[in-house]
Amino acid sequence: MGFSIERVYFWVLRQLSSDVQPTDSGSTDDIRRRLLFHNVLGRGSFGTVLLAEDPSTCKHFAAKIISKRALLAAGDELVMVERRVFQLASGSPFLVQGQFAFQTKLFLILGLEYVSGGDLYNYLLMKGQLDIPTARFYAAELVCGIQFLHTKGIIHRDLKPENILIAETGHIKITDFGLSIDNIHGEQTATGYFGTVGYMAPEVRRREEYNAGVDWFSFGVILQEMVTDECAYHQTIDDISSGIKNIVKQLLQKDPARRLGVNGDIRKHKFFRHIDWVQVEALKVTPPYTPEPSNPNHRPRPFHVDKLEAAEVRAPISAQDQAMFEGFSFDNLETRG
Ligand code: ADE
Repeated sequence: MGFSIERVYFWVLRQLSSDVQPTDSGSTDDIRRRLLFHNVLGRGSFGTVLLAEDPSTCKHFAAKIISKRALLAAGDELVMVERRVFQLASGSPFLVQGQFAFQTKLFLILGLEYVSGGDLYNYLLMKGQLDIPTARFYAAELVCGIQFLHTKGIIHRDLKPENILIAETGHIKITDFGLSIDNIHGEQTATGYFGTVGYMAPEVRRREEYNAGVDWFSFGVILQEMVTDECAYHQTIDDISSGIKNIVKQLLQKDPARRLGVNGDIRKHKFFRHIDWVQVEALKVTPPYTPEPSNPNHRPRPFHVDKLEAAEVRAPISAQDQAMFEGFSFDNLETRG
């Protein structure tokens, strides 16, 4: 994404320091030694995502590299929430899966399933506008992913097209749980000004307490964006018969208590009347678009984590501060080649 290999190399040299040993135990030392980094895939909340590869299995990952210093400066424990969400994500095919996590003295490295078909943001840029059946397909899969998170007490808080990836199968996967909050069940509420302005619910902007309704508002904006061409001046949704206009209106309700998703069963809305939810949940509905297979091996020369010996000159992070990241590492890798 506009990054030459030199710049990426420089960036990683500056930021990653392999003078370090993992600061908590875990069986991830192997992958830590084997991992090769390719190019930048994108930037998420609190981290840069690089394409990484385990040469022993030829498996690719999206490695999110997060600076501990940045987290400590922000006084932030959100990354531990992100890690917990990735531990739960295995329950839903509509969420990007966490494969491993390890840490050095300065960095947290979160290895995510690599989703190769790009994101909904770029797909919408390419297409301009989606037809109603296509929008309905993505919306239905998103409903499954969002409801899974909510039943686990997780609010995503940053749903937007950039955080919706398209797998090579054409199915979608929600990513970037870096601003998520967990343990919000029943009547419990959350606080905090998080998200991306255009997708943020009014109650977040007003800095009030909120619940999972904030994700339904963001979902409403995404759905609206899918069916309206941003480039077409003053375009409005005109397909009333499909129910699209009504569902968007109900999702964009200013009052969260009256907002669809929190109030009423979204699966029963007219817009979804022909959707077989069992088939959707089982990934049995044929996707409207299958991305071209991308071959990451064509990317520039990779570099190995062991070569990154550029120790930071700054003072080390104290043991007390390191304690904040205890238990970060995990390993969900099933096979080793
Ligand atoms: N960009 C951010 N996360 C990603 C992932 N898991 N796969 C591909 N690209 C990404």
